[in-house]
Amino acid sequence: MRIDVLTLFPELFREPLQTGLLGKACSEGLINVCVWNIREFATDTHKTVDDAPFGGGPGMIMKCEPIFNAFDKVRAISEPQRVILMSPRGRRLTQNIVKEVATASSIVIICGRYGGVDERVSQALCADELSIGDYVLSGGELPALVLIEALSRMVPGVVGKWESVESDSFYRGILGPPQYTRPAVFRGMEVPSVLREGNHEAIAKWRQEQAMKITRERRPDLLEALSEEQQRELEKS
Ligand SMILES: C[S@@+](CC[C@H](N)C(=O)[O-])C[C@H]1O[C@@H](n2cnc3c(N)ncnc32)[C@H](O)[C@@H]1O
Repeated sequence: MRIDVLTLFPELFREPLQTGLLGKACSEGLINVCVWNIREFATDTHKTVDDAPFGGGPGMIMKCEPIFNAFDKVRAISEPQRVILMSPRGRRLTQNIVKEVATASSIVIICGRYGGVDERVSQALCADELSIGDYVLSGGELPALVLIEALSRMVPGVVGKWESVESDSFYRGILGPPQYTRPAVFRGMEVPSVLREGNHEAIAKWRQEQAMKITRERRPDLLEALSEEQQRELEKS
């Protein structure tokens, strides 16, 4: 999977792309993230990337030209299958959207700053606008990293065992079950005995029941939103 990121703050990506599973995925070439500085594509002597909004109002808006220039450069190298603009006005990111975006082999992510991005960027580049939640950050870089990390987990080989991806919250449409590790008793709190008895069938049944219980208690909306296919999958497991 190739991901090209257009941003005014490339330095925000340096550490996260070298750390943990994401860092390993990058260094092993399982994903290839190229970060482009939009400012380098501004053509005037001051490298201007923003301007006052038409119609007046507070703040500045990111100009079209440097973003289109950066996008043209990327397009000359790789034919992007998906263009995503991080935006609080976008569809709220979910695991289903992550799964769907992860089917693309080449993705461009545009990060906004200031008061946002000139509307023509999204219009002309057919960008899918994605939000990481109903709150406003100062830039699209952290949202882009959230998306990149979630996408990386969908690439085979990034997470050691695929079954751990499948048992994560949201993958099957429900939350994950409780998990424990040693010691078996800590400060009087005991790990459920079923997890210590080695009966794999009983463990799987317990985990499924717990996952359903927690989902019912904390996120009943997830159960209501399950597709027929997801319900069938859950019944099978
Ligand atoms: C200060 S915000 C602009 C908000 C814009 N004026 C609005 O009301 O929708 C600047 C940039 O941060 C990014 N951003 C902020 N909050 C976000 C969120 N919840 N999800 C995704 N991107 C976000 C976007 O790229 C946005 O263009």
